[in-house]
Amino acid sequence: HGPKTRMTIGNGVIAPDGFRRPSFLLVDGVFPGPLIAAQKGDRFDIEVVNKLKDDSMSELTSIHWHGISQNGTNYADGTSFVTQCPITPNHTFTYSFSAQNQTGTFWYHSHYSCDGLRGPLVIYDPHDPMAHMYDVDDASTVITLADWYHAFARNLRHQIVFANSMLINGHGRYAGGHKSKLAVIKVRPGKRYRLRLIQMSCDSNVLFSIDGHNLTVIEADGLLTEPLLVDQLQIFAGQRYSVILSADQPVDNYWVRSLPDTPNATYDGGMNSAILRYKGAPRADPTTVNTTSTNPLQETNLHALINPGAPGVPGYGNANVNLKLEVSLIDTTFYINNVTFTPPTVPVLLQILWGVDPTQLLPNGSVYILGPNQVVELTMVITGLGGPHPIHLHGHTFDVVQSAGSSTFNYVNPVRRDVVSAGSAGQQMVIRWVTDNSGPWFLHCHIDWHLDDGFAVVMAESPLDTSAHVSPVPQDWGRLCPLYDNHQGM
Ligand code: C2O
Repeated sequence: HGPKTRMTIGNGVIAPDGFRRPSFLLVDGVFPGPLIAAQKGDRFDIEVVNKLKDDSMSELTSIHWHGISQNGTNYADGTSFVTQCPITPNHTFTYSFSAQNQTGTFWYHSHYSCDGLRGPLVIYDPHDPMAHMYDVDDASTVITLADWYHAFARNLRHQIVFANSMLINGHGRYAGGHKSKLAVIKVRPGKRYRLRLIQMSCDSNVLFSIDGHNLTVIEADGLLTEPLLVDQLQIFAGQRYSVILSADQPVDNYWVRSLPDTPNATYDGGMNSAILRYKGAPRADPTTVNTTSTNPLQETNLHALINPGAPGVPGYGNANVNLKLEVSLIDTTFYINNVTFTPPTVPVLLQILWGVDPTQLLPNGSVYILGPNQVVELTMVITGLGGPHPIHLHGHTFDVVQSAGSSTFNYVNPVRRDVVSAGSAGQQMVIRWVTDNSGPWFLHCHIDWHLDDGFAVVMAESPLDTSAHVSPVPQDWGRLCPLYDNHQGM
């Protein structure tokens, strides 16, 4: 089976936690959207059809394939006003790209709003080096985690937002609601499972655990890690993990827990929970109790399995490019080195293709120019209130040489991933990557409201070199941008 070839984006009413909420953005009528499953090396040609017609929210859309490097296909990255013009209602756009050698757990989402439009994407590896760690088919064990709001996303801006519930595989319960259906993850006694956890929340980070079971982490954000045994994982918005579960406990039902960092979050009545059900156990809610974690995941204990080691000369400040980004929050606006991100009217990629002088690229002060094949060391310092902030870089994975809240640097075998927490006020994180992927790449907080409030910059990699790498753009990319057509005709 190859990757799905067509996705229709439309509005609909759904009630995943029992509360009916209109005007949600759905993919093929469902939330979370359908699983896109591919094999290593597959080509993706995904036609996105915009059938949005509810003017209580944006009718524009674009889809970002989170974690796919888009090497040579920057125009397929799906970020409106960075790499493309948005898809307008009743129009389509085909995202064509190859994930090259990437395998693992990814996802897709709109870069437009938090009102839905998100789903899982998995690239299977027929020669998975960790296959000895588990023995059942993967497709049935994707676990999506998503915070859920009963209000429209745009009504939640500029305030402290509380999720109404946490959905696991699209099901949940909210305080005061009915005991609606919960997701059931079925296992057979004695088997081992690779669970692919995908954190699709708009905001919340979660504490994930399964009562009575330890979990062995083997993947972070699409890259294998050295196996690490834990009993709980804090997972930030945008992050993914694969964990191995051994179904080695007595036949029974066990709570699967995903507690969001929302005030007053509880497990009462099955909130923030799903059910792990052994074959032979009754169809009932579990009665297991939550025990305090004694072995939670520490990011500094995670190590890349394959080809570990941060690029460049080891030691803080020894990269080719040493960048420091200071994040502050004033009222409800975020500033990075004193500049707040406002989307330009002409996508950055289009400006580059037009030949705009790189130093003049808009939005002014938010675009960082990087030369080709440089080792970049980026330090992000959080000075404003709030956090922890999950930071995502498009187009790359990076080595986390300093995790937020840790005083140690690791250039030897740090975790390599694509979303990392920069921590909260007074903390910093340090990452490294190599500029081997030409094009403008978004770097932003993966809390949707923070992105809306300006917490983003663009890393413009070798903008003078686009002819070699991101050109020619496909014709229907040009059709999205009336500006592009006009220019072509000049
Ligand atoms: Cu999932 Cu711009 O990111």
